[in-house]
Amino acid sequence: MDKIRIRGGRVLRGAIPIGGAKNAALPLMVASLLTDQTLTLVNIPHLADITTLANLLGTLGVEIALDGHAPNGGHAGRALALTARKLAGTTAEYDLVRKMRASILVLGPILAREGRARVSLPGGCAIGARPVDLHLKGLEQLGASIELTGGYVEAKAPGGLTGARIVFPFVSVGATENLMMAATLAKGRTTLVNAAREPEVGDLARCLVAMGAGISGIDTDTLTIEGGKPLHGARHSILPDRIEMGTYAMAAAATGGDVELVGGRLELIQSAADALRGAGVTFEQGEKGVRVSRSNAALTGIDVMTEPYPGFPTDLQAQMMALLTTAQGASMMTETIFENRFMHVPELRRMGANINLHGGSAMVRGVPQLTGAPVMATDLRASVSLVIAGLVAKGDTTVARVYHLDRGYERLEEKLAACGAEIERLKDAA
Ligand code: UD1
Repeated sequence: MDKIRIRGGRVLRGAIPIGGAKNAALPLMVASLLTDQTLTLVNIPHLADITTLANLLGTLGVEIALDGHAPNGGHAGRALALTARKLAGTTAEYDLVRKMRASILVLGPILAREGRARVSLPGGCAIGARPVDLHLKGLEQLGASIELTGGYVEAKAPGGLTGARIVFPFVSVGATENLMMAATLAKGRTTLVNAAREPEVGDLARCLVAMGAGISGIDTDTLTIEGGKPLHGARHSILPDRIEMGTYAMAAAATGGDVELVGGRLELIQSAADALRGAGVTFEQGEKGVRVSRSNAALTGIDVMTEPYPGFPTDLQAQMMALLTTAQGASMMTETIFENRFMHVPELRRMGANINLHGGSAMVRGVPQLTGAPVMATDLRASVSLVIAGLVAKGDTTVARVYHLDRGYERLEEKLAACGAEIERLKDAA
């Protein structure tokens, strides 16, 4: 398996291009199941998760064509055309679903279109149990009968789905997306109350509207979907990846650098930017993107709590913690979305960080300097937090299990190296 080696101590200066949002691209690709016409997604990121989902959609009979090239990297796949003329099946197999939890998003669309769907339960993952009960209850409220057999969800709605009022007991991005997609083909009106307001949910809603769906309340916590009209093809440009933006903003800030996040939009990371400003980081929205910088003044500790959007995103918690390990004073980080999302803590400690865990909170006491070490991580955002720590540590850090990074960061080492980082990928000889 590939590794990434970083020699710490370089200040990041330059420009980093921000790609299309992974967490928008995945549900958008799934939306292609709702129509027999072509859905074209522009600004598609080149990531392992996208390939995993493309493989799953392929088994369901979706024809997929890549078009275009990234201007600087030569990667194909800037525009993805997906055509689900006729579904080849209604089963999403375990072997493909287990690789990525977001695969559960195919459940609502297949069921809405075909009147039945059989999708493997995704199971747990490194950051917690992550049940899908809200997805299933919501589909039942839309008239589906659901059984769990042999590790699979068997959903049936032979007469089609019917609109309903669904009140979520807490915010779920995936359940909101799954049910919003299903509701576009359900007869009548569906109201989703306490819906997720993440920008990626809004991006999906806008694409569905471009495909002919009637949706109001976009970007609010109450979505109303007038369903039942057949959807048609559309061309949709994916919004910038706010987690990629936040990650590089923290990398730049950690090194005391000055970086332009090209194509970035500051309003997408408002809560993270507010928190970072409190720690001594400066943000500025320019014409081409967002400029993030920190002068020589030291970072100061701050308290951060993860919350659904517009709160501080859980997907930036690990990176923020890496940044705060060398801030002056103490910081308290509280994770409220996932129960087991501190897997990076023991690794950061191995690099000299002073972090104590108390339930869902981490007390980070700033230390003057981290030291490089061989480290490994169990999930995507934890791995990148170790990269940030490696950028400021004294000496060499080797991050193992780079496949986690490849799920969500396109050309990470190239983008950082272009800003002056000493970072390289060590290819596995095997
Ligand atoms: C999405 C993002 C992920 C992000 C998360 C929270 C994608 C592909 N992934 O994941 O990167 O970290 O939002 O912003 O967009 N839950 C239940 N029952 C359910 C559904 C969720 O108990 O049926 C719980 C989860 O275990 C978790 C919380 O609700 O504790 C929020 O999860 P959710 O918003 O659904 O996250 P995902 O959509 O899986």
